Amino acid sequence: VKAEPACDVGSRVGLDAKSAEWLADHNVQSEVRTLSAACHRSLLPLLGVCLAPARACLVYPLCRGGSLEDRLYRAPAALQRLRMLGFETPLPPLSAAARLRVLRDAASALHYLHTLSPMILHRDVSAGNILLDERGNGYLADVGLARAAEATAGGNQRVSHLSTQRLFGKLGYMDPIISQSGQASQLTDGYALGITLLVSLTGRGAVGLLDECDDALEEPDTAESIAAADAGWSAAQAEELVRLVVGLALVKKKKRMPLAEAAAAAGGARRTGGR
Ligand SMILES: Nc1ncnc2c1ncn2[C@@H]1O[C@H](COP(=O)(O)OP(=O)(O)OP(=O)(O)O)[C@@H](O)[C@H]1O
Ligand SMILES: [Mg+2]
Repeated sequence: VKAEPACDVGSRVGLDAKSAEWLADHNVQSEVRTLSAACHRSLLPLLGVCLAPARACLVYPLCRGGSLEDRLYRAPAALQRLRMLGFETPLPPLSAAARLRVLRDAASALHYLHTLSPMILHRDVSAGNILLDERGNGYLADVGLARAAEATAGGNQRVSHLSTQRLFGKLGYMDPIISQSGQASQLTDGYALGITLLVSLTGRGAVGLLDECDDALEEPDTAESIAAADAGWSAAQAEELVRLVVGLALVKKKKRMPLAEAAAAAGGARRTGGR
């Protein structure tokens, strides 16, 4: 698979064996072709793939800034991974502005995937699948489990959702719509992005987080109370993010916020204060 130079963000590579194993099992060469053709400045490009069962792997550029998750939680395992990337001493917490920049980048890449024809769903959006380069740019990674949405009616028609035989997504990031209907869609990708925003705002784990933040989600003007103290969030930024979380993850299906709107707002929130 040939890499687009415009997408290349590093000279070394990361290998993702788990996703590749799945791809090899599911005879999905056409999906690999679709993923290889996707190109957006904030989408981690798939540089190569080996589908031989015993040696299956996907090849991505190495992101030297680590994952958003590791840069938020800074748990011992995260620090160990960051050490492998060359950070000998623990990094300071990511500032609010740095978090917003990464979120804006990832949201725009996710929106890009949804606008392709055939549409690509990510299906595994999480803080662990958003990576940073050494300059603090964000990249949406691991579209490895995505499937090109082919119109059931054939031809080039777009479809709004596709059925899944297997449920994807990490605990805490999985939209209840998926467990109820077995269907992933732009909305369920948007839900996972909403949880990622909340994880980034609070610096807490995704599992049970909506419940933990119940009060602030009901009254977004109190959102500063759940914002991570070490990031320097302004009250306006916290409120804006919580409103996005509500739009993406809390309201009923029909009233969910379109991802394009959320991506634009995440960019705008950078200008409302904070370090
Ligand atoms: N291209 C890469 N550059 C730098 N670090 C990476 C890269 N890909 C993965 N990592 C690191 O390796 C960790 C594990 O990645 P991996 O994709 O295998 O699992 P995950 O992201 O936790 O789960 P998932 O199966 O949902 O992708 C990531 O959290 C990140 O810290
Ligand atoms: Mg991953």
